[in-house]
Amino acid sequence: MSHIPVLLHEALTALCIQGDGIYLDCTFGRGGHSKAMLAELGQSGRVIGLDRDPSAVVVGEELGAADPRFHIVHTAFSALESALDQLGIGRVHGILMDLGVSSPQLDDAARGFSFQADGPLDMRMDPTHGESAAAWIARAEADEIAHVLWVFGEERFSRRIARAIVEARVLEPIVTTSQLGRIIANAQPKRDPNKHPATRAFQAIRLFINGELSEVEQGLSAAVNRLEVGGRLVVISFHSLEDRLVKRALRDASRPPQGDPRMPLPETVAQPKLKLIGKAIKAGPDELSKNPRARSAVLRIAERTEAA
Ligand SMILES: C[S@@+](CC[C@H](N)C(=O)[O-])C[C@H]1O[C@@H](n2cnc3c(N)ncnc32)[C@H](O)[C@@H]1O
Repeated sequence: MSHIPVLLHEALTALCIQGDGIYLDCTFGRGGHSKAMLAELGQSGRVIGLDRDPSAVVVGEELGAADPRFHIVHTAFSALESALDQLGIGRVHGILMDLGVSSPQLDDAARGFSFQADGPLDMRMDPTHGESAAAWIARAEADEIAHVLWVFGEERFSRRIARAIVEARVLEPIVTTSQLGRIIANAQPKRDPNKHPATRAFQAIRLFINGELSEVEQGLSAAVNRLEVGGRLVVISFHSLEDRLVKRALRDASRPPQGDPRMPLPETVAQPKLKLIGKAIKAGPDELSKNPRARSAVLRIAERTEAA
């Protein structure tokens, strides 16, 4: 199972790779972006890959065995600072985050991400940690389920769907993706002809189970701490909730910190930690014709500005 890297050329250009630099790929996946970074580096350059998915880590270990300039760490990227500490690395010259799930995760029915193929209802990127979707669906109150569907999926029938789930689980445990997909589809009074009726709810449950938005928030703040001055932070997101969060975090870090307006101005005004570079970038027609997954991808770039 392969994964076609999205916005590969754009991400590489944005990183402005220096031959002897150290680069952090926070979302290794199947290594498309990491390998392209390695191809631009000289003998003394390094790429550190992170992924919370053990199956991605296996691929990373193979790459590390073939190329000593590469090293993979099994971790969520919110913990990137401790991963770098353990490797004795302070700051890095560029950081990439290619957010969300990989094609192999979606395509492998056993991972339980997809309503298209039947599998156990899991949805964890790291199946060695945390609660599976089935375990959560079995215990959550209707109000909590509705909240998750609304906040993380903008699902307008969130309450109806939550009620249907709670009623259905009394009759039999909900343990497969197709069971949940059917319950969600049957609970919807109106359908969008262009979307599977479970699309939003599955996205919401996946984001919740993996804590994806708080991972992005913590990961971005850790990334800013660990970028060398002049180093680039490049983030690719795949849906509007994620992109909104990235846009806001980068914008906030690129504005001077706001003091208390009632207090006198300090003698030295703290400088923003990032400078935004260019506008959001989307895939061009050529890439879209080869990789439909690139349709919703948005790439944003910022540069580290000061050493504090
Ligand atoms: C879109 S794929 C990346 C694909 C990769 N750029 C490539 O070319 O193969 C996202 C990957 O990031 C991982 N991931 C997502 N969120 C993560 C997080 N918070 N911490 C670590 N890995 C994460 C997923 O497990 C998945 O393998």
